Amino acid sequence: MTTQIQHIPRISVSLPQVGNTPLLLIRSLSTDKVRIWAKAEWEQPGGSVKARAAHAIISKAIRSGKLHSRNSLLDASSGNTAIAYATLLKPLGWKPTICLPSNASAERKNILRSLGAELILTSPLEGTDGAQIVAKETYAANPDKYFYADQYSNDANWQAHYLTTAEEIWAQTKGNITHFVAGLGTTGTFVGTGRRLKELGNVQLISLQPDHPFHPLEGWKHLATAHRPGIYDDTLADKTLVIDSTRVFDMIRSISIHERLFISPSGAANLLGALEVASQIKEGDIVTTLADTLDRYQEVRKEIFGK
Ligand SMILES: Cc1ncc(COP(=O)(O)O)c(C=O)c1O
Repeated sequence: MTTQIQHIPRISVSLPQVGNTPLLLIRSLSTDKVRIWAKAEWEQPGGSVKARAAHAIISKAIRSGKLHSRNSLLDASSGNTAIAYATLLKPLGWKPTICLPSNASAERKNILRSLGAELILTSPLEGTDGAQIVAKETYAANPDKYFYADQYSNDANWQAHYLTTAEEIWAQTKGNITHFVAGLGTTGTFVGTGRRLKELGNVQLISLQPDHPFHPLEGWKHLATAHRPGIYDDTLADKTLVIDSTRVFDMIRSISIHERLFISPSGAANLLGALEVASQIKEGDIVTTLADTLDRYQEVRKEIFGK
């Protein structure tokens, strides 16, 4: 009897490169002794910081065989991670399924649909917490159809920042960074970057929180009232600062005038946090991240600039 050996074709997948974003000196907020730097995270596939986590989550899932051409990546996202997934998967011809709060901006929904993502719209009142519940239910009802990426609990999320963002910041500041400041969404940026920076040197970690649960900072979570991400490590921050969200629009306007950058609300909030840290020290190099640009927030742009 002859045994038929079935040759399973090896899929060779190649994803676009992520990371290596510029580190910008924010001159209008810096002095000779205290400098504020920001990573221009929009300079990646999909236009946001989430390219890093999405790339790591997808690569790990493909390597382990959990994501392949016969199922679909499923996750909850307020938009940026979803766009990153859809952008990275497009060259492979694969389409993610995204649970997205229905009040996500029209431009986000349009970008996602044009990238081929399948959208499951969830309650506008429950934000990404509600979208996570729907994603879990969708997966439980049909586990063979999906790979549930679960960015809030997937270690590949923070590991992406541990392996890339932190190393880039350390090299770009020549090891001179004294403080790292970041808001918390899935918490991947803060946890991964912070963990590695603590190993590399004596770096103070400052996490930021919005001032109330119904804040305008898309991408951020108000942890006291929201579902706590599985990857969050509450022992990591040396300090937590609360950001006055009424000052965010003024910061966006100021950075547009002085730096010629159109930053998003969460980026402006990060800079407000960095400025608060700067007011408390005599010298140092404070680093934060600018997750994406104002292009993704047309309503906010209109409110600030009138067009
Ligand atoms: C605009 C924006 N800012 C900040 C964050 C927070 O990043 P992280 O999820 O790594 O905590 C996100 C996350 O989606 C975001 O979309």
